Amino acid sequence: MSRLAPEARGPSRWWEPAVGYEVYIRSFADSDGDGVGDLAGVLSRLDHLADLGIDIVWVTPIYPSPMHDHGYDVADYTGVAEVFGTTADLDSLVSACHERGMRLILDLVPNHSSSEHEWFRRSRSSRDDPYRDHYIWRDSAPDGGPPNNWVSHFGGRAWTYDEATGQWWLHLFLPEQPDLNWSNPTVVEEFDGILEHWFARGVDGFRIDVAHALVKDAQLRSNPLSARPTERGGVEMGQVASTWETLEHVHDTDQPAVLDVYRRWRAIADRHDALLLGEVYLLEGDRLLRYVAADDGLHLAFWFGPLYVGWDATGLRRSFDEGVRVAAAARAGLGWVLGSHDRNRVASRLGEGAVGRSRAVALVALQVFAPGVPFLYQGEELGLGDPVIPPEAAQDPIAARQGEHARTRDVARTPMPWTPAPGLGFTAAGEAWLPFGDRGPGDTAEVQAADPDSPLSTYRRLLALRRALGGLAGAPFAWVTEDGPLLAARRGDVVVAVNTGESPMAVPGATGEVRFCTDRSCEGDAAEGFELGSDQAAVLG
Ligand code: BGC
Ligand code: MG
Repeated sequence: MSRLAPEARGPSRWWEPAVGYEVYIRSFADSDGDGVGDLAGVLSRLDHLADLGIDIVWVTPIYPSPMHDHGYDVADYTGVAEVFGTTADLDSLVSACHERGMRLILDLVPNHSSSEHEWFRRSRSSRDDPYRDHYIWRDSAPDGGPPNNWVSHFGGRAWTYDEATGQWWLHLFLPEQPDLNWSNPTVVEEFDGILEHWFARGVDGFRIDVAHALVKDAQLRSNPLSARPTERGGVEMGQVASTWETLEHVHDTDQPAVLDVYRRWRAIADRHDALLLGEVYLLEGDRLLRYVAADDGLHLAFWFGPLYVGWDATGLRRSFDEGVRVAAAARAGLGWVLGSHDRNRVASRLGEGAVGRSRAVALVALQVFAPGVPFLYQGEELGLGDPVIPPEAAQDPIAARQGEHARTRDVARTPMPWTPAPGLGFTAAGEAWLPFGDRGPGDTAEVQAADPDSPLSTYRRLLALRRALGGLAGAPFAWVTEDGPLLAARRGDVVVAVNTGESPMAVPGATGEVRFCTDRSCEGDAAEGFELGSDQAAVLG
């Protein structure tokens, strides 16, 4: 297997040719039969990722946590939650990744901690405690209400009143996720140490949660009301409670000083040749660009535009264009995603059942040939769609707080179907923490691995071709079709095409042969005269 050289040190930009994969750890593989995925489970399924052609494994938070937001509420930034295993399990996973030429990145959650973190316990204990300023506390407004009009991503206001000390604490998510105070230099120093801790254990970098939000307006001014509360604004976070959309998020997120934090982290990360990948949830390219424009900021930031488009050529072209424009202007790079643990699954966004599945498998061709680093979300390689989660089984705090089951993130978080056995090869327990969803044998990795036409086999062929082409990193991406249902772009020596229309179409400008096609029978055909079928993708050259 040709892999990234694990021995390379120094800022080598090893991620540039890579393909990444998000492991939502609770639902990937459960090694100890408690119904919750864990680190040893990830290790046991690592060859699935190696065989798929993955270079970077991003694992969602593994730290001790009361799990109000399933680990995005961290109670100890340098520990490992018992439910996920031990520090030794993490060390084994790091080694196992490196042995396979893969890299492991952790999920860093610096915007907020858990309310059970020692820092917050101290902070809350009295106004004079040295940890008080680790968090953002304010007096009531003159009318006795909260200090400003900010709201939580998860519904309701972003402030909770503490009776004991007579002030409010800020939380852009749950009250159990108090926002850290990034204008306090001690907080900044605490995180330097956390980064160093994990780099010393061999971790290859971090995905940075809510990377655009750490710093708040110094005066904590109220946000203006949104002019278009029903449409999406410039800042989103996957599925959000509808109250989030009532405000323009000008003072609570995307403050210029957040870039100082990344400048500082960049110096630390570069000493370890480690990757900083920001979840910069800004859907306007110019705002996103600032995070990756320079040589001293994040190495990569996710581009979430394509997550908000259906099977619509104009919308897809526009969202890819915006990302391509940012990528071309940036010194650093973009991470391209079609899904995550925060959104409906891409197959369900693009159509019903088998139709959505075929479209998702086709769209991934455009994703992996876009300029940057593609990240697959677990289960996409199986073409999984959203299952139905009965309301009484809901786990997502958004659903619990809002009763908005239509928006629950649980649909993207159900356990991976590995084998057509009870527990789906995910767990030996009769039940998992979240229902399995209605998965049939054909959804499982084992059955798909044996079927050359399955989504899994198709993803493997596509990623193998991407790897074989190598050197795509510097190659520009340029459309060869201006409009219409065929999305076709040249990238380096090949043309990648996706047909969103209802009839077969020729791919302009293509020469050579069909190197990859979602309809395998076309592979090896001459590009000249080739017609790409409806809902199909091909790579020609
Ligand atoms: C994560 C979510 C989480 C939120 C708060 C997001 O970026 O992806 O799953 O709920 O941050 O930490
Ligand atoms: Mg377990």
